[in-house]
Amino acid sequence: MRIFSGIQPTGELHIGNYLGAVKQWIDLQNENDCIFCIVDLHAITVPYDQRELADLVLEKAVIYLAAGLDPEKVIIFVQSQVKAHTELCWLLNTITPLGELYRMTQYKEKARSKNENAGLLNYPILMAADILLYDTEIVPVGEDQRQHVELARNIARRFNSTFGETFTVPKEKILKEGARIMSITDPKKKMSKSDSKESAISLFDSPENIRKKIKSAVTDTYKTIKYDKEKRPGISNLLTIYSLLSNTKIEEVEKEMKGKSYKSFKEELAELIIKELEPFRKKRKEFLSREVYVREILKQGSEKANSLAASKMSEVKGKMGIK
Ligand code: AMP
Ligand code: TRP
Repeated sequence: MRIFSGIQPTGELHIGNYLGAVKQWIDLQNENDCIFCIVDLHAITVPYDQRELADLVLEKAVIYLAAGLDPEKVIIFVQSQVKAHTELCWLLNTITPLGELYRMTQYKEKARSKNENAGLLNYPILMAADILLYDTEIVPVGEDQRQHVELARNIARRFNSTFGETFTVPKEKILKEGARIMSITDPKKKMSKSDSKESAISLFDSPENIRKKIKSAVTDTYKTIKYDKEKRPGISNLLTIYSLLSNTKIEEVEKEMKGKSYKSFKEELAELIIKELEPFRKKRKEFLSREVYVREILKQGSEKANSLAASKMSEVKGKMGIK
């Protein structure tokens, strides 16, 4: 299967990103034809620091590699290096009703809090272009991207019915439990890169930091360690994280922790997180010292992506009468 996913270069990757997205990619790379993209052009739709952007892009590539993506098996590249993304975005703009864009939940949220610009509104069309350029069948993402993939699907169908069969209609792949890891300081909100540092566990937090953050994670006044997402969002979120990192079902974790205090459960969880994240910290150091190698991987990735994208673009333009 052809798989495509993207991640923004800004913000530090947290365990929500890992459990909701990156971990799936690593599992998928062995049996599929995978393309992973660092979407720098999406990142600039909200205020950002232009002096930092290029470094953040490189750092995300390091993180992908440190997390276990194998450049022999997958294509890793930077969105702005393949011009077809913006070109296709423009063409798709012309067949997308404005109403569909104004409906997007993420747009509504961002437009409220950040400076609204046209890029923010068109964001999902660029994302559709990313996906459709490569005849993507499956898009592994977190729950928050479901609506965007649906829009990409609508755009593909509309294009196909207007101009003739051209695009593969993609489907999202969303892990049930990992799909929404919640903030550890406010478990009613999702863990997010743009929130405070205390609310998320970064993939590269030091062991001391992880212990401190988990110790002060918000729970409740009950005494038992039981999953109940509605009534007890805090402890449920911690159970989810424990379950996913240890590959154990939630019910099993509940059994294991029966009779234990929140304090000792949290201590065990912190040690589990530290142990699971240890390889990332080590490998990240290693790749950070091999910048030339990482750049070479990105260069080869964009060459491969460019050649796939170019042939799709010429088909699309041909169908649209642009010759
Ligand atoms: P972002 O942090 O918005 O660049 O998202 C990168 C990827 O991680 C996307 O596939 C998101 O759906 C996923 N993701 C982001 N936050 C979470 C979260 N709290 N829980 C699960 N997945 C998430
Ligand atoms: N919008 C996605 C996010 O914030 C990132 C993204 C851009 C993406 N293009 C994509 C994800 C294509 C999947 C496929 O998480």
